[in-house]
Amino acid sequence: MYLEAEDEKILAGEYGETRRKMMEILVALGKVFGAEKMVPITSAQVAGASYKTIGEWGLEWIRSLDARVAVPTVLNPIGMSREGWREMGIDEDFAAKQLEVIDAYRRLGIKLECTCTPYYLNITRYGDHLAWSESSAVSYANSVIGARTNREGGPSALAAAIIGKTPYYGLHVWENRMPQVIIEVEGADALHPDQYGALGYIAGKEVGNRIPLFRGIRPNRDQLKALGAAMAATGAVALYHVEGITPESRVLSERGGDFSALETIAISVSDVQALYGGDPVDAVAIGCPHCSEDELDAIASLLKGKKVVKPLFVFAARGVMEANRAAVATIEKSGARVWADTCMVVSPAMERFDAIMVNSGKALAYVPNMCGARSRIGTLEECIAEAVSKT
Ligand code: F3S
Repeated sequence: MYLEAEDEKILAGEYGETRRKMMEILVALGKVFGAEKMVPITSAQVAGASYKTIGEWGLEWIRSLDARVAVPTVLNPIGMSREGWREMGIDEDFAAKQLEVIDAYRRLGIKLECTCTPYYLNITRYGDHLAWSESSAVSYANSVIGARTNREGGPSALAAAIIGKTPYYGLHVWENRMPQVIIEVEGADALHPDQYGALGYIAGKEVGNRIPLFRGIRPNRDQLKALGAAMAATGAVALYHVEGITPESRVLSERGGDFSALETIAISVSDVQALYGGDPVDAVAIGCPHCSEDELDAIASLLKGKKVVKPLFVFAARGVMEANRAAVATIEKSGARVWADTCMVVSPAMERFDAIMVNSGKALAYVPNMCGARSRIGTLEECIAEAVSKT
């Protein structure tokens, strides 16, 4: 793999032991995947921030590093809200360790925004190369923004953040971003606006790790977010296209892309709708991936003047909550809580419930294993109705 003179110096240890180790990680990764060179990145998002997932060994590793990140870098959600962990019922020992993890990352110059929606923080644009970790964020960056990132592990994203570069392979390369399978959505007119997560839940199982091109749907950005997050959870989809909607789908057709030889999979909206309905639950969780400002508005307008009788948790990035304080205040007036930094899957706080209702295809897939609870999917309206109903 070709390295610039500065990179060679880093590899030789001229800029310290931590940078040398980080460059070693990137070079090893590049060699495994046949990268011909490194490419500069504009931002990084680092997974491995929850003490629930990294434990003591991970904490010690982060503490051992002695360098600062070279590009804007944020973290994936952690195991608790930094201010509200007592109210969330988080154990004192876990909270102390989680705060130590956060502090170790802060020393590296990482912004303490812990979110799976870093794209709401205005740190990326079309064509940027990134090193992001969280699967739904990777999917959104690649598909909805038209930026370029592989799905990085925590250590490789951190290495790229410190060096400011990543190996040029996989989805960084234009030729590797072509559709590999077509998805036709049958009966798309009947798809409820909140059912894109459930569509992704089914589509992910069908396509695995291939790059799908959807036809017959016209999702907005929040719907694309839900679709991509679910496909990354039930499959391993890191990039998808929607004909006439996502930025690269336009470029593909402008360049005369002919995909007629690809396999076509049909997904019926009646199969998507069959996922809905089920028994009452004992908690409701919204915000997987973390809510946008518009989604906070929608939740607030459904809760206005109502009181929840079951725990209702909403998750959003700190910056998004600050930008829409009015919606947060309305939601919390109902008795629901809006948390930053964490989510229904990575926080141990949700493990006390037996059944959780969500409006997300990704959470539908992850809650049973990660929280030990039954999961049920509903539209946003159905989720709010469940939280305010006594049955
Ligand atoms: Fe985000 Fe947690 Fe869902 S990290 S995508 S809210 S599982």
